[in-house]
Amino acid sequence: PKILLLGPPGAGKGTQSSNLVETFGVEHVTTGDALRSNKEMDISDLGLAYDTPGEYMDRGELVPDEVVNAIVEEALTSADGFVLDGYPRNLEQAEELESMTDLDVIVSLSVGEEELVDRLTGRRVCAECGENYHVEFDKPEEAGVCDECGGELIQREDDTEEAVRNRLEVFAENTQPVIEYYSDRDAFVEINGEQSLDAVWADLEAAVEDEL
Ligand code: AP5
Ligand code: ZN
Repeated sequence: PKILLLGPPGAGKGTQSSNLVETFGVEHVTTGDALRSNKEMDISDLGLAYDTPGEYMDRGELVPDEVVNAIVEEALTSADGFVLDGYPRNLEQAEELESMTDLDVIVSLSVGEEELVDRLTGRRVCAECGENYHVEFDKPEEAGVCDECGGELIQREDDTEEAVRNRLEVFAENTQPVIEYYSDRDAFVEINGEQSLDAVWADLEAAVEDEL
């Protein structure tokens, strides 16, 4: 299936994408991870505010559309089924996506602002494989060590309280309209992301199975 996962920073998109990959065998197409692997890429020829993706990311700003659209286009042409996570983040990107692929399921994970701040400031990620954990809500078996691969767990540079607040503002201004844009489609499903990890997954799995 072709799944689009929408939601604010910290809604659980990355966490639930892992479940979708495992259960439905889809590819995880995530602009966030792709950009994190290319933080130092030289984009100075675009003549924009900053010269690398990392300078936008660490401030919680959106990386320019030209850069992100190209990443998604390339990833989607090689994917059969996918879960798209982190894109589109503004209406221009949503229009671009229309020209790249159709979608079977469009899921919006909704979570309130204070919960998002708690989740993001407490998040830890594996430096090796990228798996997500949380210091309270989703602890690894051994503190600081990834259950999946034994890698070291670290805090993302944009998970400081200041960057998190900025990311939430950018979301409200740019990405909330994208959710509204999709909300009248037949394939659109809203899921309460403020439930337990397992309860969110149960709703999500059912929503995808409904469309198969
Ligand atoms: P990106 O990596 O996409 O970050 P994001 O959208 O801000 O999303 P997050 O990864 O922070 O959150 P998530 O929803 O995946 O939550 P998670 O599962 O980790 O983007 C980073 C940056 O890249 C952007 O700021 C921008 O600069 C740039 N960028 C990316 N895409 C772009 C685009 N299209 N255009 C322009 N720029 C772009 O969960 C969070 C925490 O909560 C975890 O610790 C988890 O364990 C915990 N948790 C999850 N679910 C639950 C639950 N149900 N109960 C309790 N805890 C939970
Ligand atoms: Zn790992």
